[in-house]
Amino acid sequence: MRDLIDALPKAELHLHIEGSFEPELMFEIARRNRVAIPFASVEEVRAAYRFGNLQDFLDIYYQGMNVLREPEDYRELAGAYLARARADNLRHVEMFFDPQAHTGRGVPLAVVVDGLRAAAAEAAASGGPSVYLIPCFLRHLSEAEALETLDALDPMAGHFVGVGLDSSERGHPPSKFARAFARAREMGFKLCAHAGEEGPPAYIREALDILKVDRIDHGNSAIGDERLLGELAARGITLTNCPLSNLRLGGIASLAESPVQAMLERGIRVTVNSDDPAYFGGYVNDNFEALAGAQSLGATELGDLARNSFAGSFLPDDEKARHI
Ligand code: HPA
Ligand code: ZN
Repeated sequence: MRDLIDALPKAELHLHIEGSFEPELMFEIARRNRVAIPFASVEEVRAAYRFGNLQDFLDIYYQGMNVLREPEDYRELAGAYLARARADNLRHVEMFFDPQAHTGRGVPLAVVVDGLRAAAAEAAASGGPSVYLIPCFLRHLSEAEALETLDALDPMAGHFVGVGLDSSERGHPPSKFARAFARAREMGFKLCAHAGEEGPPAYIREALDILKVDRIDHGNSAIGDERLLGELAARGITLTNCPLSNLRLGGIASLAESPVQAMLERGIRVTVNSDDPAYFGGYVNDNFEALAGAQSLGATELGDLARNSFAGSFLPDDEKARHI
């Protein structure tokens, strides 16, 4: 099964680059930048990666990225991920990053973007994958701060394919960002939002109807809402599922409970992704393998998931056709 998964060309549509920060690299960059981290060893860091819910994880995730300061740090972070992605036979990656998690501690946006773009250019010169960048608004912050972030992104808008919405979901419904997303849409950006990871199906509906997103990240809570499931299938909305993330954050008790199989059966365009691979125990192919083992996914379903990853991407149609 793993050989089949490894051989399948795939795209990753739900990857937070800051969540690919492996502890070994974190220690190296911390030492270089003379930034203290509250752990004595790589083993101690890994031992701290036990999360009861999304917020437990986010607290550690924001702490980890605190050592990133220079363009070189971001280039190395993304370069390490893209080398892994190439080994997993990923041909294309739509990479989330959190501008406010860096600018909020004094790192200029250009430092982040220059480093990520340098890594993307190196990947393009070494056999791929291709990279589209997607800055995300932090939903625990205000809409005014999201609008300020959009202003800061504007002069370099050509470097981004779209915008997203992430961080703490409960209590921060998509409707809180209605104006920011309307403005992003006017700017020509594609739109994604995390919805239904911990939040109710109503948040998925708001993301679709109020934010008018092109894609839903996670979308798990649609299971159980028959009307919503029907609409997602009929409209061909892509849901970027992250099986190991759901397991590690307690959204599901076992991978057998993952909604992926049920969504495939209902004709929903669902994809398999790693979310934050350094924190959740696996990259894309690890997610495919763990899920295939827990649900009765065979070559047909794995092929459908791989095709969905290109169909649901923001690549131009002719490029999608080349991959599918
Ligand atoms: N959910 C919400 N916000 C995030 C995540 C996630 O899984 N990863 C990084 N930011
Ligand atoms: Zn995510």
